[in-house]
Amino acid sequence: MQQPYKDIIYYATLAPSGHNTQPWKFELFDDGIVMMPDWQRTLPIADPDNHALFISLGCALENLVIAARNLGYQPEVNYIFGGRGFVQILLPPSNTPPTPTEIALFEQITERQSTRCKYNGEPIPSASIEALLAAATEDKVICQAITDTTTIKALTDLVKEACILQFDNDAFVAELTQWIRFNKMKAAETNDGLYSKASGNPNVPNWLGKILVDVTVSPQSEAKKYEALINSSSALVLFAGQGNSIRTWINVGRSFERFALKATALGLKNAHVNMPCEAFDVREKLAKLMQLNSGTYPFLLIRLGYAPKMPHAYRRPVEEVIISHSEAIAAL
Ligand SMILES: Cc1cc2nc3c(=O)[nH]c(=O)nc-3n(C[C@H](O)[C@H](O)[C@H](O)COP(=O)(O)O)c2cc1C
Repeated sequence: MQQPYKDIIYYATLAPSGHNTQPWKFELFDDGIVMMPDWQRTLPIADPDNHALFISLGCALENLVIAARNLGYQPEVNYIFGGRGFVQILLPPSNTPPTPTEIALFEQITERQSTRCKYNGEPIPSASIEALLAAATEDKVICQAITDTTTIKALTDLVKEACILQFDNDAFVAELTQWIRFNKMKAAETNDGLYSKASGNPNVPNWLGKILVDVTVSPQSEAKKYEALINSSSALVLFAGQGNSIRTWINVGRSFERFALKATALGLKNAHVNMPCEAFDVREKLAKLMQLNSGTYPFLLIRLGYAPKMPHAYRRPVEEVIISHSEAIAAL
């Protein structure tokens, strides 16, 4: 059982995660896998309530389930939270082959990426938008595509406002810088973090990268950069959740991952412009602008469009994310 389960976990680890922290661990059992958060890989400043951590776990869970279906299993997901966010995935063998949809999403797991460059602004056919929203359908999750220029302009203003708040905060910049891998050697050493080439920046030595952040990054420069990136995009997509709980966050992750895989299949690129979901004061304005009901929270804001492929981000090898039973107990 060990090797097939390791193969499934490999696909789970290709999921997106905030700052590419890869905040997951897996324990293998005879009848399945338990996935749990890695509390050493949190983002206390950018993500103080850990909603992004659990959205990331939801993305990994979705990849795991899709991979399991394609590798001959009938996964059964049980949420065993108890405040710690453990998810059990039982893996009985399947009597039914994967559906064409499951196969099509599986084929995109190794291709999907967060593409942070400028897009070409080409409009997206409405059939593609409909297919994306259908792929994202998930309990407790509301996924809205925004293509009208007035709402996009209002959302861009909120992205800029939140960006300025975040980059005015030295602790936020310090935490972000800690996760930037300024060159290939560093990225390949840690196999995590934000690899500068994947963000369209050149390889530079660590010491120079840190100086460049100090000298060239300011709240205003970041706000301007994101305004230009949104202006180059064809649509924005908002993922909101009913409730502000671990279960909702995981569902948002599952919904977003299917959306991202479907987008990849359609030749579309996506990247996060989440700042107004992360700066809690701005989040309220965002909820109001998008007329969300009370108790429904915006969690992800994504830009969508057409662009060339960028280098992929690194991942830790499967062996590093599998833990023993005693390690799992210690993590409780
Ligand atoms: C919950 C969540 C939040 C994220 N927030 C941001 C963000 O604010 N800005 C950004 O550029 N990327 C963001 N990302 C994308 C990650 O940085 C990206 O997934 C990671 O670097 C791995 O790269 P990949 O998606 O290309 O595999 C986020 C991803 C997730 C799952």
